[in-house]
Amino acid sequence: MADLRSNFVGIKSPNPFWLASAPPTDKAYNVERAFKAGWGGVVWKTLGEEGPPVVNVNGPRYGAIWGADRRLLGLNNIELITDRDLQRNLQEIKMVKKNWPDRALVVSIMVPCEEDAWKAILPLVEETEADGIELNFGCPHGMSERGMGAAVGQVPEYVEMVVRWCKQYSRMPVITKLTPNITDVRKPARAAKNGGTDAVSLINTINSITSVNLDTFSPEPSIDGRGTHGGYCGPAVKPIALSMVSEIARDPETHGLAISGIGGVTTWRDAAEFLALGAGNVQVCTAAMTYGFKIVEEMISGLANWMDEKGHATIEDFSGRAVRNVTDWQFLNLNYITKAHIDQDLCIKCGRCHIACEDTSHQAISKEKDGKRHFEVMDNECVGCNLCVNVCPVEDCITMVALEPGSIDERTGRIVTEKYANWTTHPNNPMRKETVEPAE
Ligand SMILES: Cc1cc2nc3c(=O)[nH]c(=O)nc-3n(C[C@H](O)[C@H](O)[C@H](O)COP(=O)(O)O)c2cc1C
Ligand code: SF4
Ligand code: SF4
Repeated sequence: MADLRSNFVGIKSPNPFWLASAPPTDKAYNVERAFKAGWGGVVWKTLGEEGPPVVNVNGPRYGAIWGADRRLLGLNNIELITDRDLQRNLQEIKMVKKNWPDRALVVSIMVPCEEDAWKAILPLVEETEADGIELNFGCPHGMSERGMGAAVGQVPEYVEMVVRWCKQYSRMPVITKLTPNITDVRKPARAAKNGGTDAVSLINTINSITSVNLDTFSPEPSIDGRGTHGGYCGPAVKPIALSMVSEIARDPETHGLAISGIGGVTTWRDAAEFLALGAGNVQVCTAAMTYGFKIVEEMISGLANWMDEKGHATIEDFSGRAVRNVTDWQFLNLNYITKAHIDQDLCIKCGRCHIACEDTSHQAISKEKDGKRHFEVMDNECVGCNLCVNVCPVEDCITMVALEPGSIDERTGRIVTEKYANWTTHPNNPMRKETVEPAE
């Protein structure tokens, strides 16, 4: 049986599934129920500095995007950091950690970008005996207007400075949570590393307006007729998060830095993908908010079953395995040639593949044979783009088939070779080199 135990920068948990800092980790009541359900760890909802509690809106906080079956695909929120009293949070953190010593309990913090503010809060958190801290440099709304959250995360110099203070004034492991609302996520990641961070976590939410009410002309969620941009999360953001995680994992300057992967993790598969792209564990928010804490049961059993099937005894066995397969476009093999193939037994003759290919691709799918509806790929026109695969409503009905070396590509008339060739030496490349450069 696969061993799911995780050791993330020295913080141990029985599995790599942590709840991200958000409403599910807002108070002891939630966190204890989450631990009972099986979550390996939590990052407590972000704490602010001592003083009058934060004020949230008293109306709707969420906007959403749904699929055709009303399944939640993306969630947008305008919630701020915790609006509960600091001392109460600290007492509950201490109590929960004492009751659940085998689970990871990390505390998220966001205070003004001033040395004294960080110096004041760090010993208070340390006193709870929490396992570590996560620096919230990500919230794109509300707090950023006050010079915190994404306002810090978007300036690498500030990120480095605050991480340094945290390492200087605390002995707890530091996880720096990055904002995706930036052009090049490697820059704040490098800054965090230079400041001495133990790990980075990403992504926090993406700046967004999910919809506009066309009767009132108010963005949603609407607070008395007006709205504001909020933070986007859930399944829709997973591709962005995976890409950003991989960028940090393959950057020579941050290679080897521990990464906690966040963004749209809903199933064990999502988690395995983050781990394969270099994350050491994953954090989950929207999936727990949509389906409840028990969703972790399927994540645990699904990941363990897959690991058993593939012969991975521990998380380390496959963590980071996909990183070496992420490359730049210029290194992709231009001699890899594929053609679409339609399984006539599965085809329901809806015609979507034909329309997509005819109107927007390469006019490579015929729609008629002997006066009847019949959809077939013409190899002499097909460029192998796979658009038809993605629009076909029947799974596995259209597959991409790689041409064997030695066969002829009917579209170009050229013989397929097994020799690797990429853009760096292509005759059409004005900057071409003499010898082919292997992928990094
Ligand atoms: C309602 C809500 C509140 C959140 N509050 C915080 C917060 O206080 N601190 C923080 O670091 N991230 C916060 N987040 C961001 C989540 O921790 C997480 O980074 C993001 O939702 C992406 O993960 P997901 O796609 O699994 O939801 C919040 C997210 C939501 C939906
Ligand atoms: S792979 Fe692209 S070009 Fe080929 S049939 Fe499908 S849509 Fe057309
Ligand atoms: S989209 Fe799929 S099911 Fe529909 S006609 Fe094309 S191959 Fe057949």
